Amino acid sequence: MELVDQFLRKINYLRISVTDRCDLRCVYCMKEKMNFLPKNEILTLEEIDRLCFNFIQLGVEKIRLTGGEPLVRKNIIELIKNLNEKKQNTNLKEITLTTNGTLLKNYAKSLKENGIDRINVSLDTINNDKYKKITRFGNLNNVLSGIDEALKYNIKIKINTVVFKNFNEDELFDLIEWCNNKNIDLTFIEVMPMDDTDMPRNMQFVSLDKIYKKLNKFYNFKESEHKTGGPAKYYIGHNLNIKLGFITPLSNNFCASCNRVRISSTGKLFMCLGQNDYVDFREIMRNDRGDSHIKEKIKFALSVKPKRHDFIIDPKIKPYIKRHMNVTGG
Ligand code: 5AD
Ligand code: SF4
Repeated sequence: MELVDQFLRKINYLRISVTDRCDLRCVYCMKEKMNFLPKNEILTLEEIDRLCFNFIQLGVEKIRLTGGEPLVRKNIIELIKNLNEKKQNTNLKEITLTTNGTLLKNYAKSLKENGIDRINVSLDTINNDKYKKITRFGNLNNVLSGIDEALKYNIKIKINTVVFKNFNEDELFDLIEWCNNKNIDLTFIEVMPMDDTDMPRNMQFVSLDKIYKKLNKFYNFKESEHKTGGPAKYYIGHNLNIKLGFITPLSNNFCASCNRVRISSTGKLFMCLGQNDYVDFREIMRNDRGDSHIKEKIKFALSVKPKRHDFIIDPKIKPYIKRHMNVTGG
């Protein structure tokens, strides 16, 4: 079974936010004061499992759990365990996680035991004070010990770093060398204009074009053969054992090769991170509609998946996207 959208892009990757909550408040992601959703609006673990199963039956091969912070969701391991069992008799090949890493120390072992072999950890700085600043109150040591614990259990880690103006631009070499020493791949990401944060986006955004050129003088990049099907372009470089990725939603559009859709913690299927349209699967499930109806709606959603996102960063323009990143987890 294969899922294709109206532009014949093969969609085999589902990202699902299991909670809108997070134990951090990264300044480019959230406002300081956020209202999180009441529990009854969030999909139950059974609903998430059922939705995933329908997607798998239609051709999804890879599922990523996101948040908010996925590890703050109660009984998350139970969900992962149930999804992992589906690998045996479906075409599901991989389950991964995008986490801020604060709880990884406690969870690494059970994640590995339940089939999680790769994790993306969001980390924008390896300086204690700066970490506190960007996350508004986080403790870097929790993340670092979480990463070490995951490595101990042979979970492959990739670091995702949002490049934030006047914050970590001067630290990127350090981050690269730190990752290189630990043999962890690293990807830089441009700030995207999701819903309002407490600071205008043009004061946050740095074009990775500029960063690439600066780093290239030292590392003399060559494009890597490595393809994940994702938006990152990967490079290998002089004296680097790791791959360095660049995700450039604004400076270099990659939508032509999009292979994914996203479900929010409330069961809304967003066909594109950078658009507002969605199909509400919570309503479908809670109205007691059957799996064949769910599958029909999935196919419909893909038939209207937009060609590309419409991200614009301009202080005169209000953000077009009406949700924060914790709704869909990137
Ligand atoms: N632009 C780019 N990345 C963002 N993230 C959160 N908000 C934004 C934004 N506005 C990142 C986090 C994490 C991932 C889930 O999304 O740092 O890596
Ligand atoms: Fe939480 Fe990730 Fe948003 Fe930071 S970026 S507040 S860790 S969801």
